[in-house]
Amino acid sequence: MKQEDVDWMHGKVWSMVYYVDEEHDNLLKAASSELFSANYLNPLAFKSLHRMEQEVVHMTAQMLHGDEHSVGVMSTGGTESILLAALSYVQRARKLHPKITKPEVVAPATIHPAFDKAALFFGFQLRKAPVDENQCVILSDFEELINENTILITVSAPSYPNGVMDPVEAVSKIALRHQLPFHVDACIGGFMLPWVEKLGYEIPPWDYRVPGVTSISADVHKFGYAAKGASVLTYKNMDFLHYQFVVTTDFPGGIYISPTLLGTRAGGPIAAAWAGMKHMGEKGYMSMAKRLMDGAQKLRTELPSITGISIVGNPCMNIISYTTINNDPDIFVIADQLEEKGWMIDRQQFPDCIHLTILPINVDMIDQYLIDLKKAVVFAREHHEATAKGNASFYGLMARIPFRGMVEDSVKKVMEEMYGADETSETKGIENNDDEIIQIPAWMRILNRFLSAWTRWKKSFGSKK
Ligand SMILES: Cc1ncc(COP(=O)(O)O)c(C=O)c1O
Repeated sequence: MKQEDVDWMHGKVWSMVYYVDEEHDNLLKAASSELFSANYLNPLAFKSLHRMEQEVVHMTAQMLHGDEHSVGVMSTGGTESILLAALSYVQRARKLHPKITKPEVVAPATIHPAFDKAALFFGFQLRKAPVDENQCVILSDFEELINENTILITVSAPSYPNGVMDPVEAVSKIALRHQLPFHVDACIGGFMLPWVEKLGYEIPPWDYRVPGVTSISADVHKFGYAAKGASVLTYKNMDFLHYQFVVTTDFPGGIYISPTLLGTRAGGPIAAAWAGMKHMGEKGYMSMAKRLMDGAQKLRTELPSITGISIVGNPCMNIISYTTINNDPDIFVIADQLEEKGWMIDRQQFPDCIHLTILPINVDMIDQYLIDLKKAVVFAREHHEATAKGNASFYGLMARIPFRGMVEDSVKKVMEEMYGADETSETKGIENNDDEIIQIPAWMRILNRFLSAWTRWKKSFGSKK
């Protein structure tokens, strides 16, 4: 079955798998299998896992410049850490501000969708502030969204789409001024920025050194190089964490306590995270960060030297997205061309662009990527009539459709088909062959054609002017 999976091993996938090498993988597997039958439902029963969890939390808090009051838990990933933080702050508001019946959380438009999920699960409204052309949140708009119902403010360090750092220090001042708790989502940056800073890159303050920050999420299963299923949620102190604990006292099965979202908790990812962190150590993390930042620097220099290509915003670490100036040539035609060369492309929207998270496995492939990109740009310039095509352009296509409600309905239809009872596993999925689109609604394709024609018309009108 794995033959059908995306081939990340050869460095052509710029997201998802944070592979170091075979030796490191074997260590993670060994640690994981030591505790794979354990159940961390009961921390008293598995003292080994409790010790490992607390050591991982402690090491992470130190890395984030927490102090002797820092506390935290391990969760299964960035999304769970964000859900848990949201839960704590909702519970805190219920307790301290019972008059708030319609809680709200304020975040930049680039915040990770885990917060939309949290809003849905825990019943608050997520109010998103716009970002400027550099993908940085507009502070005045951000502060304007705060009102008497606000229970939390949050930003990213950095945001996933473009690797841009939100202004944590300035937002901290807003948090202190309004006496609000402040969560920093460092799920992707948490295990990278401390080393990038130590390497000498200029990273604006974003962790517990900033006084208003009350919690930080950082994923060990990303640049902590752990096995999948491991993130750390830290809080400034127990005043915040304790709102997360659930205790049921009238369950006939006994008094039930739960510190995180799940009941039964797998021991494997905790053991692998602990072993991975101990094995990497500061020395290992520093040398990996250097390798990744050298790769990122090469891309930061080379990408803008390709005529028409520009980097989105001012990325702070090894996440870079790029686009074409005035969408000339069409960035998604370039994406199609790269895909034909075997690269997996993450298409993004607002603006239309291509995302790269530079992972250890990508570094040796950067030169080849740049060669293929240059060819793709030449093709797109010479084939102005080309529009993004094929099933792979599904996401790119959706990015251009202005009616988001219709896009949501269409995507849900695709999911219903993927998870439907009447399909066999062999016929499930978006694609059936390279050229045919089977589940993209006709209206979406027609609208896309219209929008592409409109963009071309605008371009040629603009050039005549
Ligand atoms: C900034 C940020 N927050 C949260 C998440 C969610 O993490 P996960 O996919 O582990 O749930 C991600 C994932 O890429 C992220 O980049």
